[in-house]
Amino acid sequence: MRRLRMGMIGGGPGAFIGPVHRIAAELDREIELVAGVFSSDAGRSRAAGEAYRIDPDRAYPSLDAMLAAETARGDGIDFVSVVSPNHNHLPSARAALAAGIAVMTDKPLTATLAEAHELSGLVAAAGLPFGVTYTYSGYPLVREARARVAAGALGSVRKVVVEYPQGWLAGAAEGKQAEWRVDPARAGLGGCIGDIGVHAFQLAEFITGLRVERLFADLGAVVPGRLLDDDCTVLLRFDNGARGVLLASQIEVGELNGLRIRVYGDQGGLVWKQEVPNSLTLHTLDGRTEVVHAGGPQLGFDAASRTRTPTGHPEGYLEAFANLYRDFAALLRGEAAPLLPGIADGLRGMAFIATAVEASRAEAGWVSLSV
Ligand SMILES: NC(=O)c1ccc[n+]([C@@H]2O[C@H](COP(=O)([O-])OP(=O)(O)OC[C@H]3O[C@@H](n4cnc5c(N)ncnc54)[C@H](O)[C@@H]3O)[C@@H](O)[C@H]2O)c1
Repeated sequence: MRRLRMGMIGGGPGAFIGPVHRIAAELDREIELVAGVFSSDAGRSRAAGEAYRIDPDRAYPSLDAMLAAETARGDGIDFVSVVSPNHNHLPSARAALAAGIAVMTDKPLTATLAEAHELSGLVAAAGLPFGVTYTYSGYPLVREARARVAAGALGSVRKVVVEYPQGWLAGAAEGKQAEWRVDPARAGLGGCIGDIGVHAFQLAEFITGLRVERLFADLGAVVPGRLLDDDCTVLLRFDNGARGVLLASQIEVGELNGLRIRVYGDQGGLVWKQEVPNSLTLHTLDGRTEVVHAGGPQLGFDAASRTRTPTGHPEGYLEAFANLYRDFAALLRGEAAPLLPGIADGLRGMAFIATAVEASRAEAGWVSLSV
């Protein structure tokens, strides 16, 4: 079985997530980075190609050049991975799909909801594999949590509390990662809500298997002069009547990447924390507590099949991404990958962002979330 060939869009010198995707995609030796347009600047794209040690002829100056050259080769790319800022997701995916190339894209799906609807139509028309790297759904113990909830371990879900605190944008937004995230032209309609709030939203729906039907959003641009939200409080109401709270903030000084989710049903509860990702805590109504460890014998198939090291040998962020790439490789080979987020999840995330931003701006109180 040959390795699948990946072309990257974004991930140039100094980028955050491109190198993570490169490592993760290649971890299981199913995928190989062979080409890319790593920057909108041709020289920087070439420099990145050297750093990634790909054939220099395949570090392209533009997306059009990459797609033209790669589709003309016998050994051209099988898919693109879109890891550029949000405003570049739709143009990249649109061009790749038009060239008959499958797409894996980072979140949020696009910069606006209208763009997300357009992309959804393009994916349906193209009929090509399409994945979205909502990272946290790649963690084995998140998959275990989902399986336990589906098997009834908590009974009927009544309450979800999901928090995503960060502090790195509490001051002036300086540096490569920060500056586009506070610019509506490149980040899109959401700031913090689109950058990390959407992860929390997807995680809540992924683990519970429920859908948010209504929300009440209070988003603030707390840092003076900031044009996009940086602090978010959202009340959630799920389709089974369960209540929820979603907190996402990038101005909580001292917080690193403190994503945490708690889910409570009428028979038990669970807790998972991103900064301690290799254990999942489950509580029962009669007062017992079970701690499930990555690599341990209690894991079900969804988690065990996505764990690479024995208990006590920590895996984390890179491996979670690698699990999403393993799923995507399965899709490309024509197999099923039911846990890989796809276009519908991407579109739903954008609907969440747009609804929360608009409802908060209008001080509209409770509003419906549809899509
Ligand atoms: N899933 C996650 O956990 C996660 C984490 C971080 C970022 N992200 C997402 O990944 C994307 C990139 O974020 P980042 O933090 O890596 O940003 P970054 O600023 O560190 O890197 C972006 C890269 O894209 C390149 N780029 C910009 N325009 C381009 C174009 N037209 N063509 C080719 N390359 C171009 C830039 O030169 C840069 O190298 C964003 O959509 C972000 O939301 C996801």
